[in-house]
Amino acid sequence: MNVVFLSPGYPPEMNHYTRGLAEVGANVFGVGDSHPGGLSPEVKGALADYLQVPRIMDERDVTERVAAWLRGRSVDRIEANWEPLVLLAARLRERFGIPGMSYDTVLGFRDKELMKQRVAAAGLRVPKSARCRTVAEVWAAAEQIGYPLIVKPIAGAGSADTYRVNDKPEMTRVIKLTVHVPEVSVEEFVDGEEFTFDTVCIDGKPAFENVAQYLPRPLEARSHEWVSPVICTVRDMLQPKLRDGIRLGHGVLRALKMGTGFTHMEWFLKSDGEVVFGEIGCRPGGAHLVDQMNHTCDISLFREWARAVCWKTFEADTTRKYNTAIIFKRAKGQGRITRIEGRDEILRSFGKHVVWDNLLPLGAHRRDWKQTLVSDGFLMLKHPDWDTAIRMANTVATDLVMYAG
Ligand SMILES: Nc1ncnc2c1ncn2[C@@H]1O[C@H](COP(=O)(O)OP(=O)(O)O)[C@@H](O)[C@H]1O
Ligand SMILES: [Mg+2]
Repeated sequence: MNVVFLSPGYPPEMNHYTRGLAEVGANVFGVGDSHPGGLSPEVKGALADYLQVPRIMDERDVTERVAAWLRGRSVDRIEANWEPLVLLAARLRERFGIPGMSYDTVLGFRDKELMKQRVAAAGLRVPKSARCRTVAEVWAAAEQIGYPLIVKPIAGAGSADTYRVNDKPEMTRVIKLTVHVPEVSVEEFVDGEEFTFDTVCIDGKPAFENVAQYLPRPLEARSHEWVSPVICTVRDMLQPKLRDGIRLGHGVLRALKMGTGFTHMEWFLKSDGEVVFGEIGCRPGGAHLVDQMNHTCDISLFREWARAVCWKTFEADTTRKYNTAIIFKRAKGQGRITRIEGRDEILRSFGKHVVWDNLLPLGAHRRDWKQTLVSDGFLMLKHPDWDTAIRMANTVATDLVMYAG
């Protein structure tokens, strides 16, 4: 089993997928723009070979270099788990005749308007929306859909350049803020709770499923620095509240002709009970969601994903044991972390439920909170009971305070 895996060491969690592939018996051929000397020992130990390319996003150049490098070798899979590279992986599969999702199929997971068209064509509820390339198109869409609206990039990530727009004057302002974005979606604003639906699929059928809740919604978490964003996996997937969302998720996988690999979907639950599709990617969720899912079931999805991709099997027990919450912290002030208040008390009172303390250490420089999904670090904790998990997460959100200066 020879597997080409794109960008095996970046972002850092790719290290674990590379190792997972090796653990299930694949010969892993890495392609990335990092210098081989800079790869972690974990990745170096897992790779059979590595091709460094000057620009990993340059589709044509990468294709030519990979073709030359692979000459005389047989390849069974070409995979990527990092959003910006999923189309490149599909392009390479088509070029070399390797099984897996086609370029057109993957495009349905990458282009947010095409995605919604395909999901809507299957009779599923998506927000009303329009693809806009010019200012005039934005105004026309706003007129047609009505306020409040969301304006966001067609190929966005991490809520970047995403705005809620309540009226015309706000639209004038947001148009100025988004002029650098070549194509935007203008969407009906959907009010409600926001959840994920995540899977590892084998030929479109989920071998593993997960739901997590965002508290608060990502756009709010990204709009206010004082918020400590919480994401919690839901242990009890059979509860009635989630039924329609999970059904929507299954419908979306069918509508978009999912193949084998990770998916990460977001959906809204309105107060009247209606569920609405948000977006989906054919790659794992970021910001340590996979670690949360691993803790939820005490398994390694890094390895099980690899097994699914290589052998079309999934061996881990998917019984859900915990609700696993991650709480991201943002320090008050600028510069270096000077003080962390409340941590000792939290660890004393429920430290046995904390599975990961990854707060920046004293003296470390603050991260730019708009640029990072992980803020100035996080605590991850788990508990079998949802209310207890959320209560502990809220305590971390409010009582643990980091200071910088
Ligand atoms: N139509 C919408 N109605 C309400 N909120 C939205 C809508 N579209 C996006 N958002 C908010 O913006 C966030 C980011 O949008 P999303 O489509 O998920 O893009 P990204 O790729 O940046 O994650 C969402 O998590 C949600 O909080
Ligand atoms: Mg999103």
